[in-house]
Amino acid sequence: MSKSIDQKSNKINSSWKSPSNIALIKYWGKHGRQLPNNASISFTLSHASTTTSVIASPRPINDKLAIDFLFEGQSEPNFGRKIDKFLTSIRDEFFPFLYSYHLEINTANTFPHSSGIASSASGMSALALCLCDIDQQLSGQAEYNESFFRKASIIARLGSGSAARSVFPTMSVWGQHPQILGSDDQFAIGIQQNIDPVFKTFHDDILIVSEKQKSVSSTAGHNLMNNNPYAKARYHQAGERMSQLMKALESGDVETFGKITEDEALTLHALMMCSDPSYILLEEGTLSVIKLIRQFRAESNIPVYFTLDAGPNVHILYPDQYTQQVEQFIADHLQQYAQNGRIIKDFVGQGPEKLG
Ligand code: PMV
Repeated sequence: MSKSIDQKSNKINSSWKSPSNIALIKYWGKHGRQLPNNASISFTLSHASTTTSVIASPRPINDKLAIDFLFEGQSEPNFGRKIDKFLTSIRDEFFPFLYSYHLEINTANTFPHSSGIASSASGMSALALCLCDIDQQLSGQAEYNESFFRKASIIARLGSGSAARSVFPTMSVWGQHPQILGSDDQFAIGIQQNIDPVFKTFHDDILIVSEKQKSVSSTAGHNLMNNNPYAKARYHQAGERMSQLMKALESGDVETFGKITEDEALTLHALMMCSDPSYILLEEGTLSVIKLIRQFRAESNIPVYFTLDAGPNVHILYPDQYTQQVEQFIADHLQQYAQNGRIIKDFVGQGPEKLG
């Protein structure tokens, strides 16, 4: 039995640090129980992460969940309710131990709450890893093998779709794709072994154009894809781009990688703009930064590209060898578009980490 069980009190604990991820081929549109309408692929990040620790203490069997939830040391009733609802929905299938254990959940992000960086991928994956770990300890296993991470990916997905991709190092694919062996709608897979080394050095400097919470949630955005007139063509396009991108990742073709990545970011926002009702998450600063990146690339021949999440902040992607030139360019020309000068310097990371 694992050492994390306190023999006297029978308390079990688990702590994991799990990263955020940035999609290159975007997941936008879903069906059924949080299943994607197209396959997506992401870089696993390094700095932007969530640390969660869970202490499970035995209690008399009860239908009602018993959870104390603290976010960065403070009780957060809104998050707490969300987690309660989520765990109730998966308890019978995955974690029957929740009927007879009280959970104390403590969670904190490495990036500021108000930074405009979505925390659902890192947060849900960290929680999923802790719960799978406790479940595993209860059943007397202590090996963090492929099936452990697969289950964590499934649980993370049920909490927040894109979180499925956060449990693997370097890059992940989530969603069935005919040319990607082992790909599946239920869970993500790690694909680092098929990736040219140049992509493992990639930086992602996240320029915070606005720290505001986004005005339309991603749940609402996914739902609007159901009536989007371009939806069918979009899912087909995502599949095609996935095939092209996989080839570029394998061969080290940074230019094709960059073209597809930028096209995907703009497609995501175009889909929002032609939803009914339409909406715009880009800000003026977002467009200025995008134009300046393209201009700098054309003039300098340095392979620096952008992508966007469902929000106005710009992820600036480039291989490590160009760090000095790109940082200079950002300081001279882009920093002025960052709210409070905020840029989060991140890079491709090693995936989740179990903490002592
Ligand atoms: O995981 P969700 O439901 O928050 O959706 C995320 C969607 C995007 O971030 C816009 C794209 C993606 O694939 O991560």
